[in-house]
Amino acid sequence: MVGNGAREHAILHALARSSHQPELLCAPGNAGIADVARVVPIPVDDMPALVNLAVTEQVDLVVVGPEGPLVAGLADELQEASILCFGPTKAGAELEGSKAFCKEIMEAAEVPTAAYRVVTTVEDGLRAIAQIQHGRYPTVIKADGLAAGKGVIIAADEHEAKAALETLLIEHRFATSQVVVEEYLVGAEVSLLALCDGVRAVPLASAQDYKRIFDGDGGPNTGGMGSYSPVPAIDQQAAVALTARIHQPVLDELKRRGILFHGVLYAGLMLTADGVKVLEFNARFGDPETQAILPRLKSDLLELLVAASTTGGLDGIELEWDSDSAVTVVLASAGYPESSSAGDVISGLDGARSDVAVTHAGTALNDDGETVTAGGRVLSVTALGPDTAAARVTAYAALDTIDFPGRQLRRDIAEKVVHT
Ligand SMILES: Nc1ncnc2c1ncn2[C@@H]1O[C@H](COP(=O)(O)OP(=O)(O)O)[C@@H](O)[C@H]1O
Ligand SMILES: [Mg+2]
Repeated sequence: MVGNGAREHAILHALARSSHQPELLCAPGNAGIADVARVVPIPVDDMPALVNLAVTEQVDLVVVGPEGPLVAGLADELQEASILCFGPTKAGAELEGSKAFCKEIMEAAEVPTAAYRVVTTVEDGLRAIAQIQHGRYPTVIKADGLAAGKGVIIAADEHEAKAALETLLIEHRFATSQVVVEEYLVGAEVSLLALCDGVRAVPLASAQDYKRIFDGDGGPNTGGMGSYSPVPAIDQQAAVALTARIHQPVLDELKRRGILFHGVLYAGLMLTADGVKVLEFNARFGDPETQAILPRLKSDLLELLVAASTTGGLDGIELEWDSDSAVTVVLASAGYPESSSAGDVISGLDGARSDVAVTHAGTALNDDGETVTAGGRVLSVTALGPDTAAARVTAYAALDTIDFPGRQLRRDIAEKVVHT
């Protein structure tokens, strides 16, 4: 496993349940991951060291958590070394690495998405906005490359749009020379992830995540403050139908271009009055969606990931899900998302209940062997229950026993769920 977040911890929990009883190795991991896997302190961007570790340890499968190493070509390097990898090659990961490429593929595959133009100058940007939006605001302006969730600007008027275009195209805030300007859509946002074996997409359960730091979707964006799964509006039957219209045409279009996409194709969807539209694709498991999705999976995740890493391997495979719902709430440290704090001792971790999973993100062990904060998002707590209402009661009860100075959390995760 490559990565060090709660997403990776949740994937490792699910792999540990496999009937094949895999030996688990994680680079670099964190204090919680060390309980389920042997951790090796190699950062996710040290590609030669990661490949070398995989070769010397003779690992059977590498699962790549974050997008950075995928966009940088880790899957290609592993392929070179004849090591099976769950995660797309650099060419496939461009779906996430370049919003312009993502739009081009969606257009070619006739996948429903917001109207858009790719521009390289402020003047062209303003002209494109006038055409797409017919003079109406807000509008959406997106940096082309990876921007850690900070590259999308919703501009309320022409003045803000011009400022955003200047920030991206003249000041080069995100080292990108292209910008996607996009039609503003309205609706509920849902994530639908699919396992892909190069030729076929098989949906996971739907999920919704909460991006803002404060209750009621207030304050700045974060890496994600909570999630729940499934979304009532998208049951497994609806997920299959959406995958046929959204993920499968993208896989087909990539294949036409000689790209076999192995891994998770994550569609960020908006349920608009005009039907479902794709906001973006990511090339990996979502965080914190994964923490809510995987505890409900009854199929053997290891078998699924191996199958997806082999071309055509998912053929005939049906996923089995627990009928329970899952709710995940993230605990963040003081100052997040502008900053974060480290070294605050976390109490209450030992009392975790059997119907609750605690997954670590920014945690470390101090010199006294205590678990302390070591980053913005510290850990997440997932609870299962017969419905989301029950699961959220259990999740918050468990959370209230875990404490550290400056602890931040949202109290409204899964309070309202998307029904239609
Ligand atoms: N066309 C759009 N209309 C309205 N809101 C949008 C649109 N595109 C993106 N957004 C909002 O901006 C957020 C981030 O955009 P997204 O394309 O997912 O980029 P990233 O996750 O890389 O920052 C979305 O979750 C959504 O809330
Ligand atoms: Mg997004």
